[in-house]
Amino acid sequence: ALIGKGQHRHFMLKEIFEQPEVIGGTLKTMLNPAERTITLPYLPFDLAGIGRVRIIACGTSYYAAMVAKYWIEQLARVPVEVDIASEFRYRSPPLEQGGLAIFISQSGETADTLAALRHCRANGQHCLALVNVPESTIAREADGVLETLAGPEIGVASTKAFTTQLTVLACLAVALGRARGALDRAAEAEVCRALAEVPSRVADVLRDDSAIRAIAPSIAEARDVLYLGRGTGYPIALEGALKLKEVSYIHAEAYAAGELKHGPIALIDDSVPVIVICPSDHLYDKTASNVQEVVARGGRVIFLSDRHGIARLSAKVAATIELPEVASFVAPLLYAIPVQMLAYHVAVAKGTDVDQPRNLAKSVTVE
Ligand code: G6P
Repeated sequence: ALIGKGQHRHFMLKEIFEQPEVIGGTLKTMLNPAERTITLPYLPFDLAGIGRVRIIACGTSYYAAMVAKYWIEQLARVPVEVDIASEFRYRSPPLEQGGLAIFISQSGETADTLAALRHCRANGQHCLALVNVPESTIAREADGVLETLAGPEIGVASTKAFTTQLTVLACLAVALGRARGALDRAAEAEVCRALAEVPSRVADVLRDDSAIRAIAPSIAEARDVLYLGRGTGYPIALEGALKLKEVSYIHAEAYAAGELKHGPIALIDDSVPVIVICPSDHLYDKTASNVQEVVARGGRVIFLSDRHGIARLSAKVAATIELPEVASFVAPLLYAIPVQMLAYHVAVAKGTDVDQPRNLAKSVTVE
């Protein structure tokens, strides 16, 4: 079928705006909102027997894997290793028989991810594909498949595939936690309640994008942009920096906020915007103190937080972007949205080819 942009100027924007619907549709396949339980589709192995998880992917899908590491370790208390597919396949890491290896790929055709899958299958791993294209090679060659219902993603820079990957991974973390006995019924219900709210909260973020539009022209003038975050905010910072690079061609880097002192602080002056992902969670104070350090050196901070987090901040930041208050577990699903929107509006301000950035391919099927 022919896919149009609807009322949107670019596929990327259309796909950003589809997120409440596709996250909701993906959740519906696993979450029972009345019972507040998660049930995964059939998998040909027992989650209760999984004592170690490895997640392998490229690009944006790799950042989804990084978020999942925090989630699975927290909820299921199972150690998780994440790998970039192109590193994993040439490292020949020792693999214990019967481990779970998850391959995340929007297209299901990325050459390095497929090669990593074949290596893991040949070495006794339970291979689980998390794909947006169920008839793809990665889905066909895996033992089990979890599907993101993002619909076709046309924009080269991934948006809705990322947040639907996160949606499935959050459910997987719950299911694994339950199966392993690390998560009780009440804790499952609490996460389910937070997840069920995500589509509406994402819609809230999309409804008012004025603060993001307002800062985009000034970011468009920057040569370098720094993104900082802690916990699951760190992979969101990485994804934000990747989005900006991909569509606006501005050099952007992300750091775990705790690493600020170990290098990037040397870059701070008033010409480098610093985007800080800082929901009100147990790491808030730590990140807020990093903001203070940046501001004290003349840095221009764009602070992404909720009402509470913004009110509590004493440092003088250049701009704030307010997000809804949500349970900290689901925060990465929400904070992904403004970093996508920012990259989009900066790219539009710069006049780049948003949907088809130079040198990039939607799917990298050769090494
Ligand atoms: C390319 C795309 C990215 C994507 C990456 C991994 O680089 O431009 O948007 O994240 O490949 O693709 P996959 O289909 O495996 O998720």
